[in-house]
Amino acid sequence: NDREFAWKDGTLWCENVPLKDLAARFGTPLYVYSKQAIVNAFQSYQKPLEPYKHLMCFAVKANSNLSIIRLLGKLGAGFDIVSEGELRRIQAAGCDTSKVIFSGVAKTYHEIEAALDADIKCFNIESPAELDRVIAVAQKKGKKARVSFRVNPDVDAKTHPYISTGLKKNKFGIAYDQAVELYLKASRSPELEVVGIDCHIGSQITDTAPFVDACEKLCTLLDKLRLNGIDLQHIDFGGGLGIQYSNEAVPSPTVLVAALRRVLVKRGYGDKEMIFEAGRSLVGNSGALLMTVQYMKQGELKNFCIVDCGMNDMIRPTLYQAWMQIVPVTPKKEEKETYCYVVGPVCETGDWLGKDRLLNVQEGDLMALLSAGAYGMSMASNYNSRCLPAEVLVDGNRAALIRKRQCAEELFSDEILVTDTQLGSD
Ligand code: LLP
Repeated sequence: NDREFAWKDGTLWCENVPLKDLAARFGTPLYVYSKQAIVNAFQSYQKPLEPYKHLMCFAVKANSNLSIIRLLGKLGAGFDIVSEGELRRIQAAGCDTSKVIFSGVAKTYHEIEAALDADIKCFNIESPAELDRVIAVAQKKGKKARVSFRVNPDVDAKTHPYISTGLKKNKFGIAYDQAVELYLKASRSPELEVVGIDCHIGSQITDTAPFVDACEKLCTLLDKLRLNGIDLQHIDFGGGLGIQYSNEAVPSPTVLVAALRRVLVKRGYGDKEMIFEAGRSLVGNSGALLMTVQYMKQGELKNFCIVDCGMNDMIRPTLYQAWMQIVPVTPKKEEKETYCYVVGPVCETGDWLGKDRLLNVQEGDLMALLSAGAYGMSMASNYNSRCLPAEVLVDGNRAALIRKRQCAEELFSDEILVTDTQLGSD
């Protein structure tokens, strides 16, 4: 799906490194990322945004590896975070917290304090109660908090219901009709500086229309705010575009930026700083997940290709019925393909990575699940006491381990083995 992953000499490469060499060196399951693909993806947004005031943020939840954060930070990215943990990652990666935007519906007192201490760019406020909490924490700390409201524009992003976030029925954002009142309250609060407006309508959106609709709605709110004497510095459009997993036609960021510019200029907001919080489109196509076939098994009704990679390593297929391409890394010459279900070791019927895939593979073969760079490793878990996979970053003909494979002892190193006496006799 990305030109950084290509076949050469009958085998799949990432940039100038054969994937089979990486599997031999680091084992499987293994996440492999192409640095060049991330750089290209970032620049595909940065270029069309260049002439305008903008901040291109990376939604850290898509891939939170420190080296990936650092790479994007060096390219000039800001960051969209949703927890203290993500803030600490930005700091640990040595990136600039003044470019951090804090989203999320459940920010705790402690998280708000930590973000104020880090002097982040802005809090995206998602409820009236959160507004009160941010005011209280800012007052206590004697610091001013920069805020923006995440407004729910009630736009249908026409994506999977689990990743559609901008509808009235979703838990996210503040109601559109409540926004002016809350902006007025915030602007009267000496603890706050009201700096922007934000929305997020969903993920894996493959059309510019929902973004344009949301932008129009935000502009209408900006009109109302202006009438009330409130002028904002930035408009945050939420996440980025979807990516190609199979044959989706996805518009380029250039097309998206042009469509949004038309709206902004038409509505008299051409001078506002444009912000994106893109996750998937910055890292999704940059990653592949390598796995080894453990067994081929002929079930009564289906053939199974059982691999060493499960839903704990990559949950997208079973959680969203997401179709992700799975290919043999070194395809066999003879065409003896059969339909099979690619399944993992986890004790759940939902532990599948692909259904009805035409494959010619056998025990020991290496396979790659493509476009795995976003919401892959960041959603991995230890279910079934499986160790988290390793991650490798490729740059040209070099490859560096950016996360070592977890070992069994680490699985329970935080656990406390209490004795019966410690628990008490009753
Ligand atoms: N900003 C906010 C407030 C978000 O909630 C999200 C994603 C993003 C930005 C980044 O959106 P993107 O550019 O990646 O579309 N795990 C799911 C996707 C969940 C997205 C949640 N929010 C998946 O694997 O498809």
